[in-house]
Amino acid sequence: MNKTPQSYTSPAKFFHWSMGIIWISVWLIGFLAVYFRDALNPSHGLTYWHKAFASALLLLLVLRVAWRVTHRPPPMPDQMSALMQRAAQAGHLVLYALALTALPISGWVWSSIADKPIMVLGIFQLPPLTEPQPDAYDLAKWIHVTFAWSSLALVLGHIAMALKHHWVDKDHVLSSMLPKAK
Ligand code: HEM
Ligand code: HEM
Repeated sequence: MNKTPQSYTSPAKFFHWSMGIIWISVWLIGFLAVYFRDALNPSHGLTYWHKAFASALLLLLVLRVAWRVTHRPPPMPDQMSALMQRAAQAGHLVLYALALTALPISGWVWSSIADKPIMVLGIFQLPPLTEPQPDAYDLAKWIHVTFAWSSLALVLGHIAMALKHHWVDKDHVLSSMLPKAK
């Protein structure tokens, strides 16, 4: 018997797409801030907004995880093998752990070590996680940059898989996350 395609709940979709849009924007702003510093970021305006939006992701993450642990996602398609279903679940877990948790926290640690403020959405300041530590600056920077690029690879793989489900496998995985899916 076929499983009836089910959708993610509306709040789960809201968290996914709002955080997805912020995440991609923050990544691009971080990239432009560093690689087009002279042209676009002479007085650190892009760095300010990179940190302001990225830190808001952490607040949304707390709400999203609370929703996620109390609301099950829709079942994966029957034609996915048990191994593929476990791989997809593991992929989601790594997205949560690396791209949505470790990456912003590594930025928070780096700013704390550098003794630089983070203004969440430009409204209030995040408290520092550590004392300023000039000796640890390079390591903290390396960790954030490494997490940023490995998260990008992960997110691009995630998007490619979602499109493969839609166009190649022609199953309900992508539509279950789209706003109009019932
Ligand atoms: C509280 C959260 C975060 C803080 C405080 C933070 C802080 C920073 C800072 C200070 C820079 C250097 C900017 C400059 O030199 O002008 C940077 C670079 C960068 N950040 Fe973040 N970040 C945070 C979260 C994130 C998130 C969530 C992402 C990805 C979506 C991200 C992606 C990047 C990228 C791609 C770069 C450039 C990397 C490179 O040099 O190759 N950051 N971040
Ligand atoms: C165009 C961009 C995106 C598309 C088309 C997309 C598509 C999807 C789809 C169809 C799902 C449903 C489950 C599945 O994949 O099997 C999903 C889940 C998920 N996506 Fe995305 N996504 C995008 C961007 C992002 C970004 C930028 C992030 C985070 C950095 C992200 C994180 C997640 C996570 C953590 C889940 C698991 C949700 C859960 O079960 O709790 N996605 N995405």
